[in-house]
Amino acid sequence: ALPKTIDIDGKTFKTDDSMTNVTPNTLALVGRNLHLNENHPVGILRTMIEEKLNSTSNNFKTYNNFKPVVSVYDNFDSLGFLPDHPGRAKTDTYYINKEFLLRTHTSAHEIPCFQRIKNFLSKDKNSNIPPEQLTDKTGFLISADVYRRDEIDRNHYPAFHQMEGACAWKRNPDDPQEHINKLRKDIKQLEDQLAQEKLKITLVSDDVSLEANPKQDYMSDLEVNLCSQHLKRSIELVVSEVFNQKIESMKLLQKNDSNYKCEIPTELKARWIRAYFPWTAPSWEIEVWWQNDWLELCGCGIVREDLLLRSGYEKDSSIAWAFGLGLDRIAMLLFDILDIRLFWSHDKRFQNQFQKGKITTFQPYSRYPGTSRDVSFWLPKGLTKKDINDNDVTEIVRGIGSDLVGSVKLVDVFTNTRNNQVSVSYRIFYQSMDRNITNSEINDLQQKVCEAIVEKYNVELR
Ligand code: PHE
Repeated sequence: ALPKTIDIDGKTFKTDDSMTNVTPNTLALVGRNLHLNENHPVGILRTMIEEKLNSTSNNFKTYNNFKPVVSVYDNFDSLGFLPDHPGRAKTDTYYINKEFLLRTHTSAHEIPCFQRIKNFLSKDKNSNIPPEQLTDKTGFLISADVYRRDEIDRNHYPAFHQMEGACAWKRNPDDPQEHINKLRKDIKQLEDQLAQEKLKITLVSDDVSLEANPKQDYMSDLEVNLCSQHLKRSIELVVSEVFNQKIESMKLLQKNDSNYKCEIPTELKARWIRAYFPWTAPSWEIEVWWQNDWLELCGCGIVREDLLLRSGYEKDSSIAWAFGLGLDRIAMLLFDILDIRLFWSHDKRFQNQFQKGKITTFQPYSRYPGTSRDVSFWLPKGLTKKDINDNDVTEIVRGIGSDLVGSVKLVDVFTNTRNNQVSVSYRIFYQSMDRNITNSEINDLQQKVCEAIVEKYNVELR
């Protein structure tokens, strides 16, 4: 049964029968703050990106302590998500109650951070932000844990980490060229820095057409052009740094281990493709060619006027860009970590392998074999597969098996033509990252999973 209230980070929230779907298992991850640990892959990567961006002529203030419970308004409405946007669904998001949720992205904190920049840029004496908190930084970086209900496999976990970045330029009403000149200078500096990087990025395509990716009216074509160049070069600089570090660690490995055979790239192919986010326009994603595949790294765009106005900016006073990138997927690639659950391991054999500022190749301490078990059942008459949500099933399984659950996959759906009853099967892969689990332990878990599914959906096991 659902408790009447839930305590998170010292605050008490009322639950709500129709909306609350956050589980104790997921709440246990709140406060781990892997991104703050400078000796953890996620923290190492976070620091590396912060340092790189702060080596440019723009200054980014870092915010790494925002709490994960935010309002539905901050996470969705204020950013322009329409009421029927699929991201809002209870199947995809952890709700505390109708008003609060576990943030699904760091964009939930963009507005408060833009507010601070605005107060600095306008030196607004009436602002309620104390003057000592106003800094000379015109950009910000927010890193935090974010939460999504999703499938579970080697690359997906209910919590992961994102970094949000943004940068703004103020227009001077008395000198319409001032911010243009500043932008040009900032871009030039970025280009010089990129030219010095060891790893060169080759853009195989760069979608600059605004036809299907329209700009905002509050900016001129020139402003959009310069602002997007600055955005793209800033991200390319980060990409070049991160992948160069990876390549250096591969070279070291090759030198020390003659069995390590791997082709080491000498340049990095990347492409900018068109994207859509409700609070940026135009918007893009960058993908890099890595191990024979396009790897999507980061979404970004030119900030829409409504967001700036909501952050307290005067009309036509500033222009800005923003990006958001997932840290875990990149950290897995950098450190050769094959299962995302490892990040959350308390095992010293994992934790002791990483050191502040260093990209190293993870040495698996042992591979504990896992086993699969299927759960197959007939749905009650009249129900179809649409009545069973895969993320809901995954949550049930994780609620019982916790981190012993490596993946949950839908493997079969069919209809018995004689009586029209639908059969559904899921395959659960049980494996511990840190120890051997016995058959009887797995059988116990599987038994409980079956019981929980029968109880929740009133199904008949096959
Ligand atoms: N929040 C977006 C995501 O999670 C990424 C993003 C951030 C896109 C900022 C544009 C601007 O996918």
